[in-house]
Amino acid sequence: MSGKTILTGVKPTGAPHIGNYIGAIRPALRLAAAQQKSYLFIADYHALNAVHDPKALREDSYQVAACWLALGLDPQKTVFYRQSDVPEIFELATLLAAVTPKGLMDRAHSYKAAVDKNREAGRDPDADINMGLYTYPLLMAADILMAQTDIVPVGKDQVQHIEFARDMAGYFNNTFKPVFKLPGYQLEKEGALLPGIDGRKMSKSYNNHIPVFMDSNARQKLVMKIVTDSKRPEEPKNPDESIIFQIYTHFIAAEELQSARRLFEEGKIGYGDAKKNLFIVLEREFEKPTQIYTEYMAKPALLDELLAAGAEKARQIARQTLSRAREVTGLKPLR
Ligand code: TRP
Repeated sequence: MSGKTILTGVKPTGAPHIGNYIGAIRPALRLAAAQQKSYLFIADYHALNAVHDPKALREDSYQVAACWLALGLDPQKTVFYRQSDVPEIFELATLLAAVTPKGLMDRAHSYKAAVDKNREAGRDPDADINMGLYTYPLLMAADILMAQTDIVPVGKDQVQHIEFARDMAGYFNNTFKPVFKLPGYQLEKEGALLPGIDGRKMSKSYNNHIPVFMDSNARQKLVMKIVTDSKRPEEPKNPDESIIFQIYTHFIAAEELQSARRLFEEGKIGYGDAKKNLFIVLEREFEKPTQIYTEYMAKPALLDELLAAGAEKARQIARQTLSRAREVTGLKPLR
């Protein structure tokens, strides 16, 4: 158990697939379980920049909450909350804005990408870009800095945001007094990219994904649809070229890996049986979580209660940090 504080935010964007689980959810859960202090929150204010459908925002937030709980997040150990339930974060963002150069926001990858897209389409460079998107890194820095975070587990696309949060903490600490810890990040392995059932990268937009939460029959049908070549059972097969094998490896213990490879290489298993084995390990991993997920989704009041209790805990540290930050600027500390 390490004494570091870890924190991560997830945007509510619908139900996850097993690639999301392997690449982001499982590593974050493992990291959280190994730390004394961990924070995980639903970044609903970040989502609001793009989602202007109240029902969707609400539903998606419940979905993420149920998802993480079903996959093993322990709300007694990890402080689990909605960003929007912790108003201190938004005040902190305003304090940070006072020391953050506008040029920093101008350099943000996601903002620049949106501008480039507009330019290419011959539109006004700022068309459809709201201030929420523009100041996204500022709010994200407040998310992180309020908890005096040591490590943020992130995908590659988020690294710049963590660097910005460090920059902002530095500006503030240097301008006033040291209040914020400078956060670092831990990169999630992109090597964990899973192929989808057609062999392209697993992605909802290709519709080749295997959802985490689904009933057993549907899961079995999907596994049976995985694309293979036409090698007969007794023919040697290259496991690294098999979609079935590539997915399978993420769900078995390291010791089982060698023998599984050999079955492929020595022509001791046909694709039909390999699919059955894959289905079995996916069931082992996700049957129970699917049940728990369904139960939570039927009880939004319970989710609200859990998240409210988490927000209460998050606000304690947030108030401490905010109060000190206010004080060193010359504003009144919180009472
Ligand atoms: N920007 C992150 C994403 O799109 C979500 C996020 C918001 C976040 N605030 C955060 C992640 C703070 C880590 C820490 O995935």
